Amino acid sequence: MELVPLAQGFGVEVRGVSVLDVATDAEAYKAVRAAFEEHSLLLFRDQPIADDIQVAYSRAFGPLELTKAVSVGAGSFYSRLTNVGPDGAIVPPSHRQVLVAQANALWHTDSSFKKTPALASVLSARVLPGADGDTEFTSTRLAWERLPGDLRARLQDAVATHSYANSRDQIHPDLANAEERKALPPVRWRMNWLNPTNNRRALYIASHAYAIDGMDDRDARQLLAELMDETTKREFVYVHKWHQGDVVMWDNRAMLHRGRPWDYARERSMVRTTISATAADGLDQVTPTVH
Ligand code: OGA
Ligand code: MN
Repeated sequence: MELVPLAQGFGVEVRGVSVLDVATDAEAYKAVRAAFEEHSLLLFRDQPIADDIQVAYSRAFGPLELTKAVSVGAGSFYSRLTNVGPDGAIVPPSHRQVLVAQANALWHTDSSFKKTPALASVLSARVLPGADGDTEFTSTRLAWERLPGDLRARLQDAVATHSYANSRDQIHPDLANAEERKALPPVRWRMNWLNPTNNRRALYIASHAYAIDGMDDRDARQLLAELMDETTKREFVYVHKWHQGDVVMWDNRAMLHRGRPWDYARERSMVRTTISATAADGLDQVTPTVH
C-alpha cells in the first residue's frame, strides 16, 4: 500500500489496495483503517464500484446507517444523491432533490443530527456532470489545534445542540418536512471529539449546530459562525474534483465537507454509505455527561 498526500496535513490517495481488497482481506482492512485514523480522508481511484462492493467495503469499518425516511434510498444502506427523479428524468431546479444538494453545500459533518452520529462516510461517483460539482473538505482536527489556547480550554467541555431542521431551514422552510422534524429532534454533542486511537481532538461543529449550553443563543450562533469561518478558510480546504471510478471516505469526527453547485440541468449521481460511530470510535467522549 502506498499513501500519496492530498492536502496540507490531511487526506491521502490510497494506491496498491482496492476497496474490494479491504472488504475481503483483514490485513488490507487493518492497513486502510490505520490510514483512515491518521489522515481522516482517503481517496481510491479507478474502482469498479457497485452498490454491493461499496457496502462490503463500508461494513468492514462498523455498523451501517440506514438512510432516513423521505431521502432517496430511505430504509436501505444507500443514500442516493442525485438530480434524477424516479421516472428517470432530470428534476427541475426547484425540486427537493436539488434543494438537498444545496443543503449539502453548507459545511457539515454527516449525521451529527442523528441519535447516533456517523464515524465515516463513503461516497462514490456514479454519473458526473462534466464540470463542477466538486466536494470540499477541511480538517477540524487541524482547526482545533490552531485555536488559541484559551478558546480551546473554553470549548473543552462545551456542548452544542444540532438539528436537521437547522441546516435545512437555511435553504428552504419546507425542505425539512413535518415527518422529518418529528423523527429528528435536536441532539447535543461535546464540541470536540477525541480520537481514542491517537488521542487527537477535533472540533465538532456543523451547519446543523445552533446553540451552546449555558450561552445566550445569539452569542452561540456568533461563536459557531466564527469557528466555522476559521476552520474553512480557503488555505485549509482540499477541493476534490471527481473522476469516474473515484471512491472517497472521510472521518466525520475530524472533517467538515460540502458539495459545490453544478449545472443542475446535467445529471450528477453519487452514492453514499455511512458508518455509525461506536464507543470504540470515541462516541462516549462526545456524548455529554448527564447531570
Ligand atoms: C455527502 C455530501 C456532497 C457532494 O455525501 O454527505 O455531503 O458533493 N455530499 O455530493
Ligand atoms: Mn454530507
